[in-house]
Amino acid sequence: MSDFTSDFWSHYVAGITIIGIVACFLLLWTTARKKVASSSDNTTGHVWDENLAEMNNPLPRWWVWLFVITLVFGIVYLVAYPGLGKFGGKLGWTEQKQYEAEMAKAKAELEPLYARFRAMKIEDLAKDPQAMAIGDRLFMNNCAQCHGSDARGSKGFPNLTDNDWLHGGTPEKIQETITNGRIGIMPPMAAAVGTADDVRNVAHYVLSLSNSPHDSVRAALGKPKFAVCAACHGADGKGNQDIGAPNLTDDIWLHGYGEDAIIAMINNGKTNQMPAQKDKLTEDQIRVLTAYVWGLSHNPKSVGK
Ligand code: HEC
Ligand code: HEC
Repeated sequence: MSDFTSDFWSHYVAGITIIGIVACFLLLWTTARKKVASSSDNTTGHVWDENLAEMNNPLPRWWVWLFVITLVFGIVYLVAYPGLGKFGGKLGWTEQKQYEAEMAKAKAELEPLYARFRAMKIEDLAKDPQAMAIGDRLFMNNCAQCHGSDARGSKGFPNLTDNDWLHGGTPEKIQETITNGRIGIMPPMAAAVGTADDVRNVAHYVLSLSNSPHDSVRAALGKPKFAVCAACHGADGKGNQDIGAPNLTDDIWLHGYGEDAIIAMINNGKTNQMPAQKDKLTEDQIRVLTAYVWGLSHNPKSVGK
């Protein structure tokens, strides 16, 4: 009701409600008083289809009382709870307060559990079935839409179950990733590499790093051009976790495998973002998730079914 800028609609809604209740009372009262003249055989005199007559019986008592009780209940309810326009009800109940009370209760119930988790190292947390059950639900609700319900990711979204890390796989690094998010930026590199043919040659050199099928002549020609890539991916192509530059030697491909995918990477670059979770999840929840994610590659038996 606070959405309205004037009180008109509040009065309007409350007015219709009150008039409705009063009208129901009046209906009951007038019909109870009014006697319909009936003949000796208790019919009203209306006859249809030759012999179908209308009887003049009073409403059953139980029905009348149900009607009265419903009306009284309505009045009591409207006095106690919100319902009459902007009037908030004598009990002061609001959805907001109920929600907050339920959240506080849930938090108080979980507090001892999280206190126990707080005293544990991430590595031990990853072996705790209770923590991992919570981690699994947190993951399904907050992470699975991007990383997949099995955490194996898909194109552009890293697989979290292997031991290949863009930004580091230690508990500290994982916690940092989840808390603050990450941005991986690879700029378009075609201009720095040279001609379209040079780009193709570098792509073959990249393929050769992981022993993927490649043209060895092109790879040899591309090798010197890889110097411009080395600043981020390292001279040996093994990547750099400080800036999230992937290891190009391990045959694990975040943005697709093969000549075309690599040429597209060099030509277009890529900006990829893992959203920060610190405003969405509590620190306790992030620790449990850190243990869950760390456990996926270190402790696969206790996490992810
Ligand atoms: C909107 C999609 C999205 C959501 C939601 C999301 N992530 Fe990510 N996540 C990404 C992307 C994209 C990356 C890769 C970033 C990059 O390329 O540098 C990533 C990277 C990561 C990494 C780093 C992987 C590595 O190899 O270093 C971890 C760990 C991770 N996410 C965990 C989580 C967890 C836990 C959640 C749930 C709380 C989550 N993510 C939710 C998109 C998402
Ligand atoms: C400024 C740093 C930087 C430079 C320079 C750079 N890259 Fe990258 N590259 C990245 C980052 C960061 C990513 C990961 C993007 C992401 O987070 O998704 C990446 C991703 C890639 C990928 C995708 C890997 C996969 O798993 O799918 C390929 C292939 C690649 N780079 C090749 C190259 C080549 C070849 C060069 C040189 C021509 C180059 N990069 C230069 C930072 C760089």
